[in-house]
Amino acid sequence: MFPTSTFSSLHSTNVTPTPSLSYLSTSSLSSSSSTSSSSSSPSSSLSLLQSSCLHRRHLRSFCAFGDTQLRIDPKSKGLKVTCSVGSEPLKVMISGAPASGKGTQCELIVQKFGLVHISTGDLLRAEVSSGTEIGNKAKEFMNAGRLVPDEIVTAMVMTRLSRQDAKEKGWLLDGYPRSFSQAQSLEELKIRPDVYIVLDVPDEILVNRCIGRRLDPVTGKIYHLKNFPPETEEIKSRLVIRRDDTEEKVKSRLEIYKKNAEAISSTYSNIVKKINGNRPKEEIFKEIESLLLQVQKDRVKMMKPGNIIPEIKNKKNQDNWRGIPTKLNNIPHSREIRKYFYTDVLEATQRAINDGRTRLKVEINIPELNPEMDVYRIGTLMELVRVLALSFADDGKHVKVCVQGSMGEGALIGMPLQLAGTRQILEFMDWGDYGAMGNFIKIGSVGSKEVDEQDDIFVIVAPQNAVGNCIIDDLKAMTDAAGNRPVILINPRLKDLPGSSGVMQTMGRDKRLEYAASFENCYFFRLLYYAGTQYPIMGALRMSFPYRYELYKRVDEPSGKEKYVILSTFPERPDTDEVNDAFLGKPRNKTKEASGIW
Ligand code: AP5
Repeated sequence: MFPTSTFSSLHSTNVTPTPSLSYLSTSSLSSSSSTSSSSSSPSSSLSLLQSSCLHRRHLRSFCAFGDTQLRIDPKSKGLKVTCSVGSEPLKVMISGAPASGKGTQCELIVQKFGLVHISTGDLLRAEVSSGTEIGNKAKEFMNAGRLVPDEIVTAMVMTRLSRQDAKEKGWLLDGYPRSFSQAQSLEELKIRPDVYIVLDVPDEILVNRCIGRRLDPVTGKIYHLKNFPPETEEIKSRLVIRRDDTEEKVKSRLEIYKKNAEAISSTYSNIVKKINGNRPKEEIFKEIESLLLQVQKDRVKMMKPGNIIPEIKNKKNQDNWRGIPTKLNNIPHSREIRKYFYTDVLEATQRAINDGRTRLKVEINIPELNPEMDVYRIGTLMELVRVLALSFADDGKHVKVCVQGSMGEGALIGMPLQLAGTRQILEFMDWGDYGAMGNFIKIGSVGSKEVDEQDDIFVIVAPQNAVGNCIIDDLKAMTDAAGNRPVILINPRLKDLPGSSGVMQTMGRDKRLEYAASFENCYFFRLLYYAGTQYPIMGALRMSFPYRYELYKRVDEPSGKEKYVILSTFPERPDTDEVNDAFLGKPRNKTKEASGIW
């Protein structure tokens, strides 16, 4: 702390028991001092960054402390994991309402884990007390209990995070992000914590905590007149009160916090950990401590290639997983929903590649990406592909994005309808202004000739058979040429289609199916409907590498909102019977009746 005395979807449809559910269209197979921001004295360099730091051009330097541990030696074929697992420091975010105890817990976390504490409140107060330009701008907002404009705070945080100590010791981000747009700024720079801790304290307690709070300007320690009184009279005499610790301002801060909390949590839904903050501080810390120790342990195991061990696989990540976005029947999907899925797919894919997997497929069938629906949007598929490719390119990899060309000969020449014009769209798309396209990203087709020496990763857009033509031979030739370099199929459709003579292609069918099955899912998401229908949404099935398949049921709430409730998890993709049994609450592996609706 740096105290100062100067301031002081979906439509609501009832979910009824269902006779039978089906997957719709089963078409294809990481300061100088360990304490804190206080070590970051107000910095004149801040203004250099300001809003420009968020420009895409600057992403690269920041990406150095992003999540991805992979580095590729472009000359070698395949990926070289050069990260050193043991030395990768923890990255932690702590959030909670005003006076929920973030600062108090941060002191303890820093003592135990030696992370660099970056508190935007402290950084801002330091700027204010030093009378810097930033401080003068921030003062009026802070004194009013309002949020300081994003461009000021974000630039401050980025500057602090980019310092060597934060990279080496790990960081503990306190009070940032505080809005959806701040969270998105971090996401764009691929700055992600290992865990997002939220301290949960009832409102009435928060107000009392603020009013009784006192700060020691000498040690930075936080006291409370009743809860944690100062140890000596000398300390007591020098304590100061924060300007924004009046009842009225606390209420305004609380209101702002609540308005933003949901949107921020949704950004970190798979790593959020809510902790009851209304307990003795030692007890709270004990829980945080064991959580962080577990995160460290999991990560070490997770980073060992080929060692996604059972503890992680079986970890009930639904504890942290806040669920599936709602309103998925509202088309077009909102930007937030699309981003949500893009991030979900990206993280799963990165984890799989980090684990040394090379033959991957992503299957995602939200309505806009489901070719069986009349709302299918090629633009959404292209956006997803762009997110993946740019992310890999940001890590210095050469990515080839491939779309199959037209196949066949003479009257049978053709291209699957879905892919018509796709390559052109890709070529005309905005690939950012730092020269990724052409340097790190290239567009190609499917086939062995498409595999160049410098390519590191191949992303193949919706490869599929067309009537009379089979893509698998070209695909196989390409993967053979790619060797152990990752090939990622996005929404492949490799099922058999009738040949030119109207009969199913059976020549070499077993071999083709075997080849298609050699790609493992790194991500799977499918909505569930009544058999033969596309409405209402009954539930969803999701798998994000390396975790289990998660089966969710969509439930209407009395408020008119909806939510997804987890029913069961599976080590492998469940079949229709297993899905139906889980919806009916039947025990697993029950012997099937000879008759009945199943
Ligand atoms: P900031 O300093 O971050 O304020 P805050 O989030 O409101 O949080 P506090 O510092 O008030 O509380 P805390 O959770 O740290 O609780 P503490 O441990 O001190 O931000 C201040 C302002 O800066 C914002 O209003 C905004 O204007 C601006 N700002 C900051 N970040 C920004 C951003 N990202 N974007 C825009 N603007 C931003 O504990 C509180 C009291 O409770 C203490 O007295 C303590 O002793 C006591 N206590 C703690 N734990 C317990 C316990 N377990 N039991 C009993 N008492 C306890």
